[in-house]
Amino acid sequence: MKNTRTTHDGARIYSRCLLACYDLLIYRVLAPVVWRCDTHHFLDLYTKYMSSNHADIGVGTGYFLNQCAYQPGEVRIGLFDLQPNCLAYTANRLVRFQLETYQCNALEPIAFSGEKFDSIALGGILHCIPGDLAEKGAVFDAIQPLMSPASHVFGYTILNREIHKTQLSRFVYALLHYLKVINGDSDSASHLYAELSKRFKHVNVHIIGCIALFNAYERLPN
Ligand SMILES: C[S@@+](CC[C@H](N)C(=O)[O-])C[C@H]1O[C@@H](n2cnc3c(N)ncnc32)[C@H](O)[C@@H]1O
Repeated sequence: MKNTRTTHDGARIYSRCLLACYDLLIYRVLAPVVWRCDTHHFLDLYTKYMSSNHADIGVGTGYFLNQCAYQPGEVRIGLFDLQPNCLAYTANRLVRFQLETYQCNALEPIAFSGEKFDSIALGGILHCIPGDLAEKGAVFDAIQPLMSPASHVFGYTILNREIHKTQLSRFVYALLHYLKVINGDSDSASHLYAELSKRFKHVNVHIIGCIALFNAYERLPN
């Protein structure tokens, strides 16, 4: 079937009004109850892999960045997003840190010539963007200008295949998909693993409930 979704569909929903209740809705209700992945699993990923020279792609509200253990002056954070509301909300929340903000479409090579980042988070962005995981893999290429060979990439995404779904998760997925908030009918952990493995020597993909948590490092030559 022809994919009629656009890149902007997955970012349009993030109005200032939605951002005001995003943390509660996503991290108190949807993640633990519907997707069956407790919030601490996402935070664990940040605690483990976020470096003091970090880029966040698809920032939302900066919920996990705001909980990082770094003190002001200890960390450089690059915020990248298609949606200006998300950039403004997150920059305001994290004003205590040294921030750089960039509006960009993460499906296209990011025009960036600054100092490279040591860690790059792709939290919750892959399920927003259109196409199958082979097409979404463009994000792993788009972030190349931000990366040094040693950069560590990590993130999470909602899956729709090869997972155990409850009636509730099936219903909510269908609703959010209909509303074009999430895109990824065919997304599975094996497809995600394949896309990451085309680009990185070391790849881990771990499923909890309906969520894939991943990290990858040592970029392979193009
Ligand atoms: C589900 S939110 C995730 C927010 C946050 N990282 C988290 O884990 O809660 C998805 C974010 O990706 C952004 N986004 C969606 N499509 C994008 C694209 N093509 N390029 C850049 N950002 C995009 C949205 O604006 C939003 O900030």
